[in-house]
Amino acid sequence: MSMNFKLSDLYSILIHHFEGGESELIKSLQKLHENFTNNRGKIGEYRESAQMISAYTSFYLPTNIIKFERIMYFLHHVVKDVAKFEIDLSSCDFIDLGTGPATYTLAYLDYFSKNKTPSIYAIDCSKMMLKQAQKCVDHFFPQSKEYVHFGEWRAKELSKNIGDNGRAKWFFVGHCLDEIGSSTIFQYIDELSPKFVTFLTPGTSNSFNELSSVKEKMRNKGYTLIYPCIGNNKSHNNSSNSSICPMLNTKGWCHQVIKGEFSEEIGRLSQLVNIDRRYLPFIAHFYVLNSECECNIVRDYDSEKKVGRVIRFVGESKGDIQFDLCISSSSSSSSSSSSSFSSEIIRVQLLKRDIKNKEDLKRVKRLLAGETIVFRIKSIIDEAKKIYRISYL
Ligand SMILES: C[S@@+](CC[C@H](N)C(=O)[O-])C[C@H]1O[C@@H](n2cnc3c(N)ncnc32)[C@H](O)[C@@H]1O
Repeated sequence: MSMNFKLSDLYSILIHHFEGGESELIKSLQKLHENFTNNRGKIGEYRESAQMISAYTSFYLPTNIIKFERIMYFLHHVVKDVAKFEIDLSSCDFIDLGTGPATYTLAYLDYFSKNKTPSIYAIDCSKMMLKQAQKCVDHFFPQSKEYVHFGEWRAKELSKNIGDNGRAKWFFVGHCLDEIGSSTIFQYIDELSPKFVTFLTPGTSNSFNELSSVKEKMRNKGYTLIYPCIGNNKSHNNSSNSSICPMLNTKGWCHQVIKGEFSEEIGRLSQLVNIDRRYLPFIAHFYVLNSECECNIVRDYDSEKKVGRVIRFVGESKGDIQFDLCISSSSSSSSSSSSSFSSEIIRVQLLKRDIKNKEDLKRVKRLLAGETIVFRIKSIIDEAKKIYRISYL
């Protein structure tokens, strides 16, 4: 269950009280938004101001946190043995770098609340931000005091602090790749060798490009990108195609979308600040160290039953719905035991009359970028342009 915040819950725990009421909050958010988008030179300022940190907490915490559950939902279609995968994740130490107001620490606690939680390390370079993070965790998960640790640890310090506890680690980098910088982030990865790594960024073309260079480095360190890529990104793969993302040859960029369903107050705030959070584009990359995981990844069921990742909704007419999909193009070239896969973008057309079940039709109409679709190719519309008619399975 994703945490759906009421602003009143958050107001009581902010480190700054907006004496000037809603209008002060709105002004602070506008400045914050300006610095995040057009005035990147001033990006670091907000973390040294209690007022800006509180503004961030009021708006970006509730609207960012929902992406965690969405990532988990995406992952459910990627791995075969979901139950085991979730147990693996929940038994890891969770390391939330650039935690902000504890956004993804709260998301993790919320998502895995039924399981016994190992240690969580919420890291931030701003003392004031950490104070806000601690207030948020104490308020929403008071029982978690013993195992959530807050600190400014650099990579080596953190590694010493965690020690050799024998547990695997899940390293999570949420909305701070550009602020922290990939070289600092790789210091943590090199020190900790986390089993799982998640990068989460806004869904922009700049972030996509940054993540593409991160992907190359991760591959060289032995990580497999299990989501969203449907082709293979294994380090020991000799195929020169393996690292080529088909989106790199297009004007677009691969991202995911979530429909923002927030409390009325957050919806109102987003209108007042003029930041549209109804459909949130973001990019989530999920890596696993150790190629054993490969056997657990769903790429295709068989040569007929294919799996596609929705890249974008193209359009709907009276009779059909069209999507661009990223698919694995392994079946013709490799056996399932081979590690050579590549991927390609195809355009697919689904005839509405072929979708007999009303619920299925509703689901297809609601499909957003990043989701997975299982299908069979019915006929080729244009081989050269890679346009196919498919049936939805
Ligand atoms: C945009 S916020 C993201 C917060 C949270 N992860 C989220 O997604 O809502 C970026 C955070 O990274 C922190 N940060 C920036 N540079 C850092 C560094 N070198 N080490 C640790 N944290 C850093 C900032 O203080 C800020 O809290």
